[in-house]
Amino acid sequence: MSHPPFSPGRLLFGGDYNPEQWPREVWLEDIELMKRARVNTVTIGVFSWAMLEPREGEFDAAWLDDIIALLTDAGIGFFLATPTASPPPWFTSAHPDALPLRADGTPVLHGSRDTYAISAPAYRDAARRVARFLGERYGTHTGLRGWHIHNEYGTIDHGPHAARAFRQWLEHKYGTLENLNGAWYTAFWSQRYGSWDEVLPPRQTQYLHNPAHAVDFKRFCSDEMLAAYREQVDEIRSTGSSAPVTTNFMLPTWNHLEQWAWSDAQDFVSVDHYLDTAGPDGETHVAYGSDLTRSWADGPWVLMEQNATGIRVGNGTLVKEPDRMIRNSIGYIARGSQSSLFFQWRAGAGGSEVWHGAMVPHVGADSRGFEAIVRLGEILERIGEVAEPPADGRVFEAEIGIVWHAEGWWSLETPHLPNDALDYADEVRATHRSFWRAGLPVDFVRPGGDVQRYRLLVVPALYAMNVDTAAWLEAYVAGGGHVVVSFFTGVADPSQRVIPGGYPGMLRDLLGVRVEEIRPLADDEQIELSDGLRGELWSERVHLDGAEATAIYAAGPLSGSPAITRRAYGAGTATYVSTRLTQEARDALLAGLASGLGIRPTVEGAIELGVEAIRRRGAASDYLFLLHHGSAPVRVEGRGVDLVTAAANVFALEPGGVAVIREDAAEWRITAAASA
Ligand code: GAL
Repeated sequence: MSHPPFSPGRLLFGGDYNPEQWPREVWLEDIELMKRARVNTVTIGVFSWAMLEPREGEFDAAWLDDIIALLTDAGIGFFLATPTASPPPWFTSAHPDALPLRADGTPVLHGSRDTYAISAPAYRDAARRVARFLGERYGTHTGLRGWHIHNEYGTIDHGPHAARAFRQWLEHKYGTLENLNGAWYTAFWSQRYGSWDEVLPPRQTQYLHNPAHAVDFKRFCSDEMLAAYREQVDEIRSTGSSAPVTTNFMLPTWNHLEQWAWSDAQDFVSVDHYLDTAGPDGETHVAYGSDLTRSWADGPWVLMEQNATGIRVGNGTLVKEPDRMIRNSIGYIARGSQSSLFFQWRAGAGGSEVWHGAMVPHVGADSRGFEAIVRLGEILERIGEVAEPPADGRVFEAEIGIVWHAEGWWSLETPHLPNDALDYADEVRATHRSFWRAGLPVDFVRPGGDVQRYRLLVVPALYAMNVDTAAWLEAYVAGGGHVVVSFFTGVADPSQRVIPGGYPGMLRDLLGVRVEEIRPLADDEQIELSDGLRGELWSERVHLDGAEATAIYAAGPLSGSPAITRRAYGAGTATYVSTRLTQEARDALLAGLASGLGIRPTVEGAIELGVEAIRRRGAASDYLFLLHHGSAPVRVEGRGVDLVTAAANVFALEPGGVAVIREDAAEWRITAAASA
């Protein structure tokens, strides 16, 4: 961990508060309702640029002073956002060059939000100016819990400013055009660059983009946005403010940032998490988002936004039932969140997100939604002690690691792969889901990270890899670790150049296989394996070269050839899976491997009864969180006190319910209530 664990001394409860939408009498009601719900933290200022700086260089913060005073008098702290995600119309009019261009050259005009070209000097100057203004005015305010820089960095520009900055970035990376031409394989299709000025962002072109170019542009955009973020942090620090700094990441679909590097640049890591299904799999999604963010943070983190009442799926917003909202909120905390914060406090009466869920719905406080918020506030107060992290900052223990890198995603977005239906996020999430379904805690790991504590490491679809990552995996296995590598991992180098001589070139030795041929499957096709497992999307003609086959293809042109292999390597083993296992097959394989290594669920038998059991480490104790997603009551027995109900040692947990147990011992038994 590059910084001390984020420890605000309580669980933060509240959300985005946008008083600029309302007259002052509503603010007074807001404060009363916040007190009723025990809200202790709001995020203010996100998207407030037009009110804060109504004309270029002219600031008006009287309204912000007023609202901050009201909050502070009520004992409510605040995260202060810099409003730079949404430049006002005066900015566009004065600096039309600072608007982003889409890849097809269309300018993106104001009228929504996030209309800025990240590399435009006028934008960067304006962003620094407003950050400095806020730093000077509020940087040492006692109610300030932290800085929320910008909002969800991720607007991509393909315009002239981006072109200039991209060239500089490339020149810094490659030194010479010759190196760039080599890395980008520009000999193909006559793409050779004779001067830096010829290089463009990957704008609209006739046919397929060059993959090395596309991935370098993704890297550049992440670095460029990070530089803009750092400039704002520097401005704020130079005003003497030492409050911790974050910017909110966005899950599940935002993939513009290299999160490991970004996490290192923040005092605490925060995320906005929106469920993408109203079905039971939403529970695994909460765990997935939490485990990723905790891993990026390498410790406790902050849930900056979730939806209080709705789940946006397809064309509509489905209701997030109160029990689920509470259970999900506690689920984030179980996996290291220091907060339960929402977008937004009060449902807007207008604007583009008028139908978005809120802590106070349109109908007002007399609603199921707000009642649930009040209930959550009570629970958070009762379980508040969990927010105190242990001295080493490690709030969570896992013996399983899943390797994650944004570049894996970027690579698989390049066009014309053997099967373009292969999706990095799906692969990683399916892997995580398998462990969730087995009740096994996992972390995510950066390539090259510290993996000593993991007994099992899974590498899903990390297509491009450098030699250091390959050596890191080899060292891990040689030292006694067990790795599972999926198809299409280590096939190419970071320039997306395939290593010739048999796939996966970077890992042939470790895995003891040589793949001769990739054989994608048709959309509706499945392939059978000898052990009853099934694959989809992908298959390969694999030759053994030191490994043994643990499953073979059972039918079709690959019949009899290895499908899953295993090689003893040093003191550990390396398993290779050459097809995309169906979810059920993946569950069986990964749970079987974990159990073979003696990795046990947090509470034996709990998940089978629909109870997700998670242990969070704290300063005074460990806490066992139980989230009951199932449909029949269970009986819980052990030694400890449920902070939610004050019940001790033996109690019933109803469907939909939660328990947060301060543990006296780590042994628990969960059985169906009827059999008790
Ligand atoms: C977030 C964003 C919020 C709001 C929310 C709606 O991504 O930060 O401002 O738009 O989505 O779900």
